[in-house]
Amino acid sequence: MAQPKEKEEQSLKPIVAVSKRRGFVFPGSEIYGGLSNTFDYGPNGIEVLNNLKRLWWEYFVHRRDDVLGLDSSILLHPRVWEASGHISNFNDPLMDCKKCKTRIRVDKFLEDKEGEGAATGKTLEELTNTIRDKAYACPTCGTVGSFTDARQFNLMFKTSHGASEEGATDIYLRPETAQGIFINFKNVTQIARKKVPFGIAQIGKSFRNEIMARQFIFRTREFEQMEMEFFCEPGTQKEWFKYWVDYCMDWLVNVVGLKKENLRVREHEKEELSFYSDSTSDIEYKYPFGWGELWGVASRTDYDLTQHEKFSSEDLKYHDLDQKKKYLPYVVEPALGLNRLFLAVLCDAYEEEKLEKDDIRTVLRFGRRVSPMKVAIFPLMKKDGLDAKAKEIYADLRNHWYVDYDESGAIGKRYRRHDEIGTPFCITVDYDSMSDGTVTIRERDSMKQERIAITEIKSYLINRMV
Ligand code: GAP
Repeated sequence: MAQPKEKEEQSLKPIVAVSKRRGFVFPGSEIYGGLSNTFDYGPNGIEVLNNLKRLWWEYFVHRRDDVLGLDSSILLHPRVWEASGHISNFNDPLMDCKKCKTRIRVDKFLEDKEGEGAATGKTLEELTNTIRDKAYACPTCGTVGSFTDARQFNLMFKTSHGASEEGATDIYLRPETAQGIFINFKNVTQIARKKVPFGIAQIGKSFRNEIMARQFIFRTREFEQMEMEFFCEPGTQKEWFKYWVDYCMDWLVNVVGLKKENLRVREHEKEELSFYSDSTSDIEYKYPFGWGELWGVASRTDYDLTQHEKFSSEDLKYHDLDQKKKYLPYVVEPALGLNRLFLAVLCDAYEEEKLEKDDIRTVLRFGRRVSPMKVAIFPLMKKDGLDAKAKEIYADLRNHWYVDYDESGAIGKRYRRHDEIGTPFCITVDYDSMSDGTVTIRERDSMKQERIAITEIKSYLINRMV
């Protein structure tokens, strides 16, 4: 069941704190007092984001011979959104409190009160009546009976396109990357000589003017998506749908390294399906505030291509030369939010481990492919040549991995700092290193230390980095 806002915020407190402390995520525009629901990704955060994007691209594009990449514009012709149905249908129901002006998203508000699905299939009138009949109070000022009628609110951000106000046209920041793929379907099929079934993938920013943006980076107004539209012959979509749900789950568990028990697949009920979809499943993650959608996999039929064909008057049909027929392909779409994935990765990795004598260490047990830095190199002292030796090792290793050199503070503190960053290995150069050419290498999770030759560091790490 969904939780009230305060409980959700409480449950995320340690994650938010370590994110700021260790340079993963900062509150947006902080020195100006902040801009609500905006976030900046710090030096370690950007590394995790880039690692996730790279892993996704590798598995969804490079390692397959049936998927190609694309990078379409954020700003698209306004007719795109008429064709896709976003102008008329991309709405959430809202209500305002007449007393304190708090705006609520009615379906989420009702789900918080009554559980998942409480608002599913309800009309605006039914939503209004439910809130009134049950005498639900405004979450901010506590007044009962102060809500306006529920009404629809379009989630697209509007902006103007053009140098002067008079000549400017209203356009929108894209609310999904998917439409950029559909409108390039013809271009890609013409140059790529790919036969259906094949997919087009892209990673990029999307924008939604969410009514209740909350839960840290889970629901924000600016976010990044990793989407793939897989074009297949009508009648084969069910098979492909199942294939892609399994493929996505496999990637999350075996490549990103999320715990299987924190993931589940939830199939949409008929009344929950978008109007264009014949089946949809959400891969959900068990966030500290409860299960939440991480990845939507939707079978979108031929809805989008049909609409774009109609609105653009371009023939978007695929010519199947083997079968000697023309058709609009059906589409299966795995659509993943990068920032939600990042939050899942942070929550999965976070642990407060009890050590001896009431000592607690905070550790981020990131998978090695995901962790921002792979190795940290410390000289025991900043003198007697230890620092020069450590810098030599650092200079060599940075040719292969993203590594850190850290000479400040006690060695124990340096280990703890890197535990919180999630660095899998720390290497210490001490006095013995100067005489016998060995270093201490410490593994993050077990905290086990072993002595290895400097000449063997690279092969040691290569064997343990996957
Ligand atoms: N093209 C289909 C589409 O955009 P969606 O379920 O609306 O489908 C896909 O979005 C994914 O994008 C979601 O599963 C979620 O991970 C992410 N997402 C959607 N809205 C978001 C928001 N406001 N903040 C962060 N991530 C969001």
